[in-house]
Amino acid sequence: MADRKSPAAPEQWATRIGVILAVAGSAVGLGNFLRFPGQAAQNGGGAFMLPYFISLLLLGIPICWAEWTMGRYGGSRGFNSAPGIYSVIWPHRLAKYFGALALLIPLVIYMYYVVIEAWCLGYAYDYLVGNLQLGSEPAAYQQHFDEFIGKTADGFIYEGGNNTLVVLLVVVFIMNFACIYRGVAKGIEDFCKVAMPIMAVCALCVLVRVLTLDRDKVIAGLGSMWNPSAEYLAKPETWLAASGQIFFSLSVGFGIIVNYASYVRRDDDIALSGLTASSVNEFFEVCLGGLITLPAAFIFLGAAATTQGTFGLGFNALPNVFAVMPGGRVFGFLWFLMLFLAAITSSISMLQPVIAFLEEGLGLRRHASATLLGLITAFGTAFVMYFSKDMAALDTFDFWIGTMFIFILAMIQTIFYGWIYGIERGDEELHRGAHMRVPRFVQWILKYITPIYLLAIFIGICITSGPGYYKTLSAGGVPLYSVIVIAIVFAFLLLLVHIAGRRWEREGRLKF
Ligand code: PFF
Repeated sequence: MADRKSPAAPEQWATRIGVILAVAGSAVGLGNFLRFPGQAAQNGGGAFMLPYFISLLLLGIPICWAEWTMGRYGGSRGFNSAPGIYSVIWPHRLAKYFGALALLIPLVIYMYYVVIEAWCLGYAYDYLVGNLQLGSEPAAYQQHFDEFIGKTADGFIYEGGNNTLVVLLVVVFIMNFACIYRGVAKGIEDFCKVAMPIMAVCALCVLVRVLTLDRDKVIAGLGSMWNPSAEYLAKPETWLAASGQIFFSLSVGFGIIVNYASYVRRDDDIALSGLTASSVNEFFEVCLGGLITLPAAFIFLGAAATTQGTFGLGFNALPNVFAVMPGGRVFGFLWFLMLFLAAITSSISMLQPVIAFLEEGLGLRRHASATLLGLITAFGTAFVMYFSKDMAALDTFDFWIGTMFIFILAMIQTIFYGWIYGIERGDEELHRGAHMRVPRFVQWILKYITPIYLLAIFIGICITSGPGYYKTLSAGGVPLYSVIVIAIVFAFLLLLVHIAGRRWEREGRLKF
C-alpha cells in the first residue's frame, strides 16, 4: 500500500466486517447507554418507543442508506470529506459550503463528548482501584460526581486543585489522536475490531447480573422502562425527543457516514453493510441500553431514581446500585469500561471527517492536520471544562449542535440526495455490489416523506425550545459565549472550505 500519511494516498477499509464495526462503533456510544434510557424515562417509557421505531424506519435507516450512497459515490470521485462529496453530488460552487456544516457538527460534538469520555475512564479506574465504594447513601455519589466534574463552580477543574480530570483528558486525547493518526484501516478499523467485542462482552456481563437479581423487582424495573404511558404519545415533545434520539444514536445527520462510506471500494456492498451497522446499534441501544440502566436503577432505588436524566442515571444511580449489588465493584468497573469503549469508538469517528478535509482540502500531511485539529479541539474542550458550572457550556453545545444542527444537516442531505442526485441514480448506486435489495418505496420515502417529517420536527423544536433558548441567550453569560465559540469555529471552517474549493478548482478536480 502507498504511504498512508501522504494526502494523495487513497485510504480504504481493509475488510467488510471492519467497516461495519467502524460504523457501528461510531453509532454505539454514550447515546445508547445513557441518553436513550434517560430520554425514554422522561418521555413515557413504552410510549416513547412507538415514535422511536417510526423515526427509525422513516428517518434513521433511509437517511443512513442515502449517506452511504453519497459517501461511496464521492469516494469513487476522489473525495472523502463532505465539502468535496457534496460538490460532486451537486456540481455547484455553493455546494461545498454546506459541507462546512458536516465538519462543524462532529468537531463541536467531539469537544464535549470527550469530556464525558474522560469521566467514564475516571470512573472505570476508580472502580478498579476501589475508590468508588462510597456506601449506600445516594448523596455521597452525587457529591463525588459534582466534585469530579466541577459542577459547582466554573474553573473548579483547573483552580480547585483537582486536576485528575485534566490528566484523564490528556490520556483520552492521546488515544483518540493516535487512532486517527494511524489512518482509517490501521487505526480506526483495527481499534474497532478489538473494542467492539470487548464492549459487547462487558455489556452482556452487566446485563446478566442485573437480570438475575430479584425476579419480581426485575419485572417491575422492566415495566418502568417498557410500559407505555399513553398520554405521552399526544405530546409533540415525545416525538421530537424520539427522532432526535434516533439521529444521535445512529450517527445520522452528522456527516460521519458520508465520510466513512467514502473509504469503501466502488463495488463493495453498502446496502447490507449499512443495515447491519444500524441493526448492531439498535441491538446495543434497545436490548442492552434499554435493559440495563433503568431496570437496575429501579430495582435498587425505586421509581424516583429512574427519572434522573442522562448523567444522573449513569453516574449517580448506577454507582449507587453497584454499591449494594453482590460483586458491585467488578460490575461497576465493567460498566464504565464499556461506556469508555463505546465513547472512544464514537469520538474517533468525529475526528476523521475533519482530518480528511484538512488533508484533501488544504493538502496538509497527517501530522500537520492532526496537530491543527488537536489545537482546535483542545481549545473547545478546555472551554467546556472551564465553564463546568451546571454543565452550562456542555449543554449549550449539545442543544445547538447535537439537537438543532443535526436536523438542518439531515434536511440538507435528503435534499441533496432525493432532489439533486436523484432517487433513480441513488437506487442504482445503492445496489451496485449489494447483497440485498432495498424496497423501492424507501427511495420515495427519502424523496418526499423524510424531508417533510424532518421539517415538521424542526419546526416543532423551534416552537417548543426556541423561546426558552432565546431567553437564555439574551441573559448572556456562558450560553452566549458558547454560541459565540460555535460561530467562530463555523466561520473558520467556512473560510477553510472556501480556500479548499479554490484549490480543487485550480487543480481541475471540480468543474462547474
Ligand atoms: N452515535 C453516538 C452515540 O450514540 O453516542 C454519538 C455520536 C457519534 C455523535 C458520532 C456524533 C457523531 F459524529
